[in-house]
Amino acid sequence: MTVDRITSATLRAMKRRREPIVSLTCYDAAFCHLLEQAGVDVLLVGDSLGMVLQGQPSTVAVSLEHMVYHTACVSRVGKRALVLADMPFLSYATAERALQAAERLMAEGGAGMVKLEGGAAVLQTVGLLTRFGVPVCGHLGLLPQSVHQIGGYRYQGRDDAGAARIRADALALQEAGASLLVLECVPAELAAALSAELETPVIGIGAGSGTDGQVLVLHDMLGLTPGRSPRFSRNFMADADSVSQAVAAYVAEVRSRAFPGPEQTLA
Ligand code: KIV
Repeated sequence: MTVDRITSATLRAMKRRREPIVSLTCYDAAFCHLLEQAGVDVLLVGDSLGMVLQGQPSTVAVSLEHMVYHTACVSRVGKRALVLADMPFLSYATAERALQAAERLMAEGGAGMVKLEGGAAVLQTVGLLTRFGVPVCGHLGLLPQSVHQIGGYRYQGRDDAGAARIRADALALQEAGASLLVLECVPAELAAALSAELETPVIGIGAGSGTDGQVLVLHDMLGLTPGRSPRFSRNFMADADSVSQAVAAYVAEVRSRAFPGPEQTLA
């Protein structure tokens, strides 16, 4: 029996049906099997792998080579989930670099969609990629690749000006052709309002329960991250007997909108 691969059309249909989209980061074949069996819809080969797998202090050192390698590890065995690959730091700083990076992530890595961070600065690139048939996911709010500029991992859009900027960027990304949007660390009210306003599906991380779906870093939700996990995450292993059970609980709680709860939400 063949299994239908999830695409941007599937995600748009899920949004229309108000069926929450479930996403987790995934960097290898073993977890790809496990997450697909649990019913995860979007496997994000995030450049968080720099911190989670490589022990780097940020995502800045992650190269295109690393991203292509891990994307291929996932897509080689994946059957149903959309494989979403991060474009690494500065790989989309020029149109030429962006086209080359997207080509490698899709043709060699097997990604079904690529993700890049930012608003106004990336609009032309998003337009260019989509015109050439590359499905693109935007990423607004906290932009981990800009951590050196921001000065830390902080919530964004907390004042009127910041919220208006995120809203304008989100609408512009949709207009430029983005098929999906990740909103990271923004107040729940802003994220819910944007999700209602946009036709593009919105996946939140640290953005409350009013988005069209949720994503977490796999190692955070399995309690594998040393030190303190972000407040918007939860250790699903705490109440589970196995990794499969923990992931199944996450999938069920995202689908029922029980996760994120008030403890993980910034109002
Ligand atoms: O790289 C990553 O894991 C991400 C998530 C934080 C959304 O971009």
